[in-house]
Amino acid sequence: MFHWTIRLFLVCLVGYVSTPATAAVKKYQFDIQVKNISRLCHEKPIVTVNGMFPGPTIYVREGDRLLINVTNFAQYNMSIHWHGLKQYRNGWADGPAYVTQCPVQTGQSYTYDFNVTGQRGTLWWHAHISWLRATVYGAIVIMPKQGTSYPFPQPDFEFNLLLGEWWNDDVETVVKQGNKLGLPPKTSDAHTINGKPGPLFPCPEKHTYAVEVEQGKTYLLRIINAALNDELFFAVAGHNMTVVEIDAIYTKPFSTNAVLIAPGQTTNVLLRANQAPGRYFMAARPFMDAPISVDNKTATAILQYKGIQNTVIPSLPQLPALNDSAFALNYNAKLRSLNSPIFPANVPLKVDRHLFYTIGLGVNPCPTCQNGTQLTASLNNITFVMPQTALLQAHYFNLKGVFTTDFPDRPPMPFNYTGAPLTANLQTTQSNRPRLSKIAFNSTVELVLQDTNLLSVESHPFHLHGYNFFVVGSGIGNFDPKNDPAKFNLVDPPERNTVGVPTGGWTAIRFRADNPGVWFMHCHLEVHTGWGLKTAFVVEDGPDADHSVLPPPKDLPPC
Ligand code: C2O
Repeated sequence: MFHWTIRLFLVCLVGYVSTPATAAVKKYQFDIQVKNISRLCHEKPIVTVNGMFPGPTIYVREGDRLLINVTNFAQYNMSIHWHGLKQYRNGWADGPAYVTQCPVQTGQSYTYDFNVTGQRGTLWWHAHISWLRATVYGAIVIMPKQGTSYPFPQPDFEFNLLLGEWWNDDVETVVKQGNKLGLPPKTSDAHTINGKPGPLFPCPEKHTYAVEVEQGKTYLLRIINAALNDELFFAVAGHNMTVVEIDAIYTKPFSTNAVLIAPGQTTNVLLRANQAPGRYFMAARPFMDAPISVDNKTATAILQYKGIQNTVIPSLPQLPALNDSAFALNYNAKLRSLNSPIFPANVPLKVDRHLFYTIGLGVNPCPTCQNGTQLTASLNNITFVMPQTALLQAHYFNLKGVFTTDFPDRPPMPFNYTGAPLTANLQTTQSNRPRLSKIAFNSTVELVLQDTNLLSVESHPFHLHGYNFFVVGSGIGNFDPKNDPAKFNLVDPPERNTVGVPTGGWTAIRFRADNPGVWFMHCHLEVHTGWGLKTAFVVEDGPDADHSVLPPPKDLPPC
């Protein structure tokens, strides 16, 4: 542990010292190792990077090249995803297991080699296989190019807040148990802030994150939702926050008393330490406006003014109610791209390809499950099956028989998507090969994601790999193709990589398919991904070698 801390520190130091105005190469070593960690008075072995929980922060400057060697010392297959990094022409470094690579097996290594181009802000990395991201995750901080400043007042200091979920049991066992029963895996035992649940949980002594602030100073809080299944509210007692960035894209600043953040998303806020010196709780708790059981416990951390004693009891912030849909709609409606001359919002105005995907939950017969049935999820009635070979390799080497490209552009039959669940359990189809959608290079795509009331409505945070997209519209009920597009925001819509489809509603996104490769798209609620709420786009190569998928690296893991 000590050894790695020093090594990491040196690596960072070398990176900085040798960073001239031009791009630098930054190297990190990620050792996947199992370590005993104690939380909530339980000690258990968890999978970590370098023995750290949460894992190390990657610091990089826009334009740098990153070389991250992952060596797997654990008894689990592993792959790491750099969530929100575009990986232009370089899906080989993207990380989702069996989509862009086969996992790194025990005793093996793989170096993720990629450039950080045209992006700055807060992103994060996490394991992208089964539920291992429960403990294998960390922050990515991309500093603006040297000589470039933020488009908001320069903060005096900054800190990261990684929101997570903790299970007392081994997470892989939790998932297996859920699948065996055909039911949702049991909900988490705690929420965490920087890996710590805080004083509202048992044994908080060492398990509370605290940060010291100075009166009058401005802080940049980089908030990351690394939870597996819970959309979260976050607030700081007595303090307002100014949202300035989401998913590494600058926004028009707005002030708020609480932030709403879905799994996969990041939010940067400015906070001024302008209150009476004291101790204030920062707190995170779920948002859930569907009849679904959720871990509703509150994680807390402490914002402590300099010179204040540890004995002062902090007060809790006012968080919106668990099911406060109005807050959620109102908050999301405030998000706008900055859309300045330096950071324009290049929204596709003309659409080449219209896609309409329904999100469905369902129950399928399952003779081997204890319940006789199992929960399932689908897009356009298709439950995605994972292949045995990585899809990107199959695409690049033109291997036949791994996947088909007949994923339908719309559901097989229109119905009253958000009506009473009369339609519950439309037959979902499960082919033995993944069905993907093929997209022409550089075409503009509009995708409407429509929640349905098959089984139950629920809010679904959808994440697209390889791209950012513009969230041009959103609404409750069924999408109306005649009247809704007229209300789209095509000027300064929020640009992001993960967007919540509202409970019983729809969200429309647009992007230009200028990044060739195979790109995963899935609900970032791990429980739904596991049930098949996922698909992938095959974006074709461009007209020449400079617009085609790069050749695979030599050390790409074999299956
Ligand atoms: Cu953050 Cu495919 O995931």
